[in-house]
Amino acid sequence: MTWPGAARNLGGAALPQMDDPMVPAAAPSSPLLEARHLVRRFGALVAVNDVSFTVPSGEVLGIAGPNGSGKSTLFNVITGIPFGPSSGEVLLDGRPMTGQGAERIARSGLLRTFQKDAEFGTLTAFENAYASACFNAGRKGEEGRDAAARALKDAGLPEARWSLPSHALTVFERKQLMIASALAGAPRLLLLDEPAAGLTQPEVAGLDALIRTVRDRGVTILLIEHVLSLLLAVSDRLMVLDQGRIIAEGLPSEVVRNPAVVTAYLGSRGAAA
Ligand SMILES: Nc1ncnc2c1ncn2[C@@H]1O[C@H](COP(=O)(O)OP(=O)(O)OP(=O)(O)O)[C@@H](O)[C@H]1O
Ligand SMILES: [Mg+2]
Repeated sequence: MTWPGAARNLGGAALPQMDDPMVPAAAPSSPLLEARHLVRRFGALVAVNDVSFTVPSGEVLGIAGPNGSGKSTLFNVITGIPFGPSSGEVLLDGRPMTGQGAERIARSGLLRTFQKDAEFGTLTAFENAYASACFNAGRKGEEGRDAAARALKDAGLPEARWSLPSHALTVFERKQLMIASALAGAPRLLLLDEPAAGLTQPEVAGLDALIRTVRDRGVTILLIEHVLSLLLAVSDRLMVLDQGRIIAEGLPSEVVRNPAVVTAYLGSRGAAA
């Protein structure tokens, strides 16, 4: 089952170990992520319009919305890649992230994947995961190689495929590499932008299992997804954007029946149907 607008995707991103000195201990009561009044303008267009929300540690927050509703732009401004917000603030464990620069934000454990293929196509699968371990988690040499190998195993990519250039992998293997690169980079919070795009139904089931593996490693997840079956299956909570604003949030099964959400996707005739 897919909502209108299902399409493309991919990306390579980043499990910091809890003893990592870059990882501050969370106060039990504070959310892992807090977005405060985020705004992103492109000229006259307000792609993200006063968006505020919090995400507790361990949650999978699903994010839905029609094409162009500002979902990917929200990921951009949260991670600062490739750009931050026009105004507003992002806090991870109560620490300001906005304006800190991509490397610092990544090393705090805030990592993302991209809608389009973002791995280095000419590097091997292993080199991609290793690069993430180095850049995103500051690991080097043996430590980086161990982290890359662990992540590739966790993501289920067969070892015989690790030495292939990533462009030679199948679509589903590139998704496994995307998740492996993410894990190698030691995320505490991982933002996945339409990871199911381009997958067959059985492969979506494989991705569902992979996302649960990441969550079971202690990683909090924000998941943008048009494949509704996946979004509903793995999300603890669902937030819907329309024209840059949050129009609904709550339990996934309730949010998808919200009249404002139906209208945003299908127009007023859909809401009336
Ligand atoms: N770099 C940019 N410059 C100008 N406008 C942009 C830029 N990036 C996004 N936009 C515009 O901002 C709006 C939100 O785009 P965004 O990519 O965030 O939507 P989305 O919800 O991720 O859509 P989709 O489901 O199609 O991926 C759109 O109108 C888009 O054209
Ligand atoms: Mg998008």
